[in-house]
Amino acid sequence: MPGHPAMARPSTILLLGFSILLAACAAQEPIVIQGTAVPPLPKLDAVRVKKGERLYAQYCASCHGVELEGQPNWQQRQEDGSYPAPPQDSSSHTWHHPDELLLEIIANGGDPAFGLRMPGFEDQLSEDEMRAILEYMKSYWDTEQREFQWWISAR
Ligand code: HEC
Repeated sequence: MPGHPAMARPSTILLLGFSILLAACAAQEPIVIQGTAVPPLPKLDAVRVKKGERLYAQYCASCHGVELEGQPNWQQRQEDGSYPAPPQDSSSHTWHHPDELLLEIIANGGDPAFGLRMPGFEDQLSEDEMRAILEYMKSYWDTEQREFQWWISAR
């Protein structure tokens, strides 16, 4: 039906999509720290963040806190030499570590020789599930922390 108002819509949508794409490209710049460049920071995948949120609540929240806030006095060594569970949000040093180290800690736990009480989840979680939890943790970090952590993982 020529001249029908609905005919205008696809091109409007296309134009809108194109402007969003342009805006996204402009924000996507390589990250350069200490003279070493890595590709732009990838966006978090909302579906995987949601999946990670569910798994985190089930497996991690009892120690690391429902809001990733950690246990009280997490920086203080206990009498038995162990440490309480640290926060996983932007207030602890978790975001200083590259993905591979974090995944290795989640899979194998802390070293009991150092009095570390983090259990390993190798038998309960697949690598994909551990990565989803990590994606969820990243949603708590600010852009600068995310950029640094991406850089240290990708360099
Ligand atoms: C029984 C309590 C407990 C549970 C459950 C637990 N953790 Fe931990 N976690 C700890 C403790 C205590 C530490 C600090 C000492 C250590 O590293 O062993 C820790 C440390 C960590 C670290 C290292 C943090 C850093 O900045 O070095 C990561 C990452 C981590 N946990 C992730 C997880 C994830 C993800 C889960 C759920 C799959 C989980 N933890 C479940 C107790 C726990």
